[in-house]
Amino acid sequence: MSRLALVRLVLVTICGALVSPTIADEAAEIADSEYEQIVALTPDLENGRRVYLACAVCHRPEGWGTADGTYPQIAGQLQSVIIKQLADIRARNRDNPLMYPFSVPRILGGPQNVVDVAAYVSELPMTAHNGKGAGVDLELGGRLYVEHCVKCHGEDGAGNAEERIPGIVGQHYPYLMRQFDAIRSGRRKNADPKMTKQIKGFTPRQQAAVLDHVTRMSVSEEKLAPSGWRNPDFPAYVRDALGIAPGASALPGLPNPAAIPAPPDLPKP
Ligand code: HEC
Ligand code: HEC
Repeated sequence: MSRLALVRLVLVTICGALVSPTIADEAAEIADSEYEQIVALTPDLENGRRVYLACAVCHRPEGWGTADGTYPQIAGQLQSVIIKQLADIRARNRDNPLMYPFSVPRILGGPQNVVDVAAYVSELPMTAHNGKGAGVDLELGGRLYVEHCVKCHGEDGAGNAEERIPGIVGQHYPYLMRQFDAIRSGRRKNADPKMTKQIKGFTPRQQAAVLDHVTRMSVSEEKLAPSGWRNPDFPAYVRDALGIAPGASALPGLPNPAAIPAPPDLPKP
């Protein structure tokens, strides 16, 4: 290599390092570009149902998660939001150590599987029996919601598909608390900077009040599951008093859910 070429190489390397985006930006870019790829595809609900089997272990066959907020309700979430979160999680633009191994392409599959499972989940009906707050400060919570949240999450908490703003109605209280903390502290990397700014000054009392209000907003009629509804796509799931233990699969071609390890416990904060 000539001296000139060497100098040029060194210069390019140094400049490259100076302008190269941080690792966080890179993760966001990877997630964004996969998102664009995924939303361009046409979802296949039948395949989405098959893919969902791996999710059901944690999010439950109905997609309702758990009232203690360990697992969020994802049923009825906007399709664009589900896709964004899956792309973010597997690009590590949102840390989710429990779910990460299930989100990688080798397990979840490529963009087509992502759009399929997102479409399937977004069409699952929601439960209104989500984990609620203490119910002691609802007047304050309602006022704060109108003042600080309505413009993005909407009057009914249904979010905004085009802007990829999540629906938060019907969500479990402890999950909402955890996300609010993570968004405010910057721990949730994919948080919306405008929201982070909006909630910066919230006191613990205000946070508890507004999120309690959110847990009590009504899930819209068309998204609500009929009372006693169980996902008929997973008839072989054995439900016991402690929750749901996966039984043998009745769907041909699906892996045996009994062979899927039970979800690990969340680390205590
Ligand atoms: C091992 C358990 C586990 C499995 C399997 C799992 N998830 Fe999750 N998922 C979680 C946890 C825990 C969270 C919440 C993490 C947090 O608190 O930030 C989550 C969060 C999510 C979110 C974000 C919800 C929101 O409101 O932002 C979506 C979407 C999601 N999961 C979809 C799926 C799909 C689709 C599958 C199957 C391909 C799946 N998950 C498999 C544990 C799991
Ligand atoms: C400027 C718009 C904006 C405002 C104002 C805003 N949010 Fe958000 N919020 C967002 C966006 C966008 C996300 C999703 C970011 C991402 O992960 O892509 C989000 C995410 C959330 C989440 C996590 C949801 C989940 O499923 O994981 C919660 C909880 C939340 N917001 C609650 C609130 C509350 C309560 C208020 C009012 C105090 C509020 N937000 C104000 C835009 C906003």
